[in-house]
Amino acid sequence: KHCHRLQTDRGSGLSPWPAVPSTSREGSTMHAALIAATAALGGLLFGYDTGVISGALLFLRDAFALSPLMQGVVTSIALLGAAVGAGFAGALSDRYGRRPLILVTALIFVAGSLLSAAATGLWMLLAGRLLVGLGIGVSSMLAPLYLAETAPAESRGAMVSLNQLMITSGILVSYLIGYAFSASGGWRWMLGLGALPGVILAGGMLALPESPRWLAGHGHLADARRALQALRGSSETARQIEAELDGIEADLAGEKRGGGRVSLSDPGLRLPLIVGVGLAICQQVTGINTVIYFAPTIFQAAGLSSASASILATAGVGAVNVALTLVAIRLIDRVGRRVLLLVGLAGMAVSLVVLGTGFLLGAGGALGWLTAASLTAYVGFFAVGLGPVFWLLISEIFPTEARGRCMSIATVANWGFNLIVALTFLDLVAAFGRPATFFLYAALTALGFLFTLRLVPETKGRGLEDMREAWAERGHTVPQSRG
Ligand code: GLC
Repeated sequence: KHCHRLQTDRGSGLSPWPAVPSTSREGSTMHAALIAATAALGGLLFGYDTGVISGALLFLRDAFALSPLMQGVVTSIALLGAAVGAGFAGALSDRYGRRPLILVTALIFVAGSLLSAAATGLWMLLAGRLLVGLGIGVSSMLAPLYLAETAPAESRGAMVSLNQLMITSGILVSYLIGYAFSASGGWRWMLGLGALPGVILAGGMLALPESPRWLAGHGHLADARRALQALRGSSETARQIEAELDGIEADLAGEKRGGGRVSLSDPGLRLPLIVGVGLAICQQVTGINTVIYFAPTIFQAAGLSSASASILATAGVGAVNVALTLVAIRLIDRVGRRVLLLVGLAGMAVSLVVLGTGFLLGAGGALGWLTAASLTAYVGFFAVGLGPVFWLLISEIFPTEARGRCMSIATVANWGFNLIVALTFLDLVAAFGRPATFFLYAALTALGFLFTLRLVPETKGRGLEDMREAWAERGHTVPQSRG
């Protein structure tokens, strides 16, 4: 029943991708899905806490007499915190382990949520949101990292993308909670409810093991074996577990032969870093968060003048984001990452052109609905490709030993450009108008398509230690030796 293949590829062992046997298996899906769901709670917090602020802001504005500038600060301070958190998370998790850091992050979420919910002054509010932002940043990279390092190769795409599913669900929930509490002006509830998944995440992580790859990499082989047994559950025989551990041990030996720590200036990392950072920028500059953060405003500008119509449309966008992420999860390990990315980017570019044209022709009536439809299609195409695939690829394309640090770099770029787009969107619209702004995002999406076509490798079904071959398929030789 369990198909178990052992390929051996020795190589020189001097590249940052140690050549090791890779294992492949089926089954164990249920057990793994449960583990993934717990780890992906970080994604729920990410989505909820980035989504909730737009609804809460309407009330914070009055409660704290916020100037437009301060409204911007309250909104973006969490994004700033996220960039900072992501910057520290990689090195810290390479050093102290994935699990303790996720645990600390869960507690930071709880503290930040409660602090901002209880805020009696602006500084308390800002401190709370900054803490929450730190948590978002750390977990935005650690959840995919942990999921990738604990998942079996065949279902790694779906497992890691569960995190994006939780992000989109968190955004949708934050819209609904915002709507539910908007009548009563309950911003404290909106902000404070984020503490709940934080508590669940902390509890869940206490029960989950450390990443076996991290344990083996730090010389704790007996613990790595125990972690694998816990992760794979009863669906795997002792022999299969030993084989997987052998693979990880060979990985370790490869790293030792390679002279220890992989330096970030290693030429073998150059292209993976370009792809990781390039996709990070692409995911943000194509404009998704202008919709996520400003959807009701955009819909009203399109002529859906009643508040209820634009709230309905916003909830619709949130639901489409979740639904199409589910479609991506079903496809990602079968059709692969590249196809989803390319189809998604092409669809986004076309939708953005239609959207810009809609705004060009004017607002209201049937045109308003055309605009709403193209905006929804744009989000759908994002959800099927760039949304999940970026976070997945950056958990796959780097060698184990440098994964944390490299993912940090890509994730900081992602949050940095998220911040830039959020801060410039309204000004761009004011200066150049909506059509030109959306045409700009369309052009950047087309660039992203070309970038993907040329540089992004297919990682489907490969062991995390086999990515050198994935790069070779793209025509790039990752150097076999250095120094
Ligand atoms: C991705 C992006 C995030 C965005 C979300 C929307 O996770 O990284 O910035 O808000 O998708 O679904």
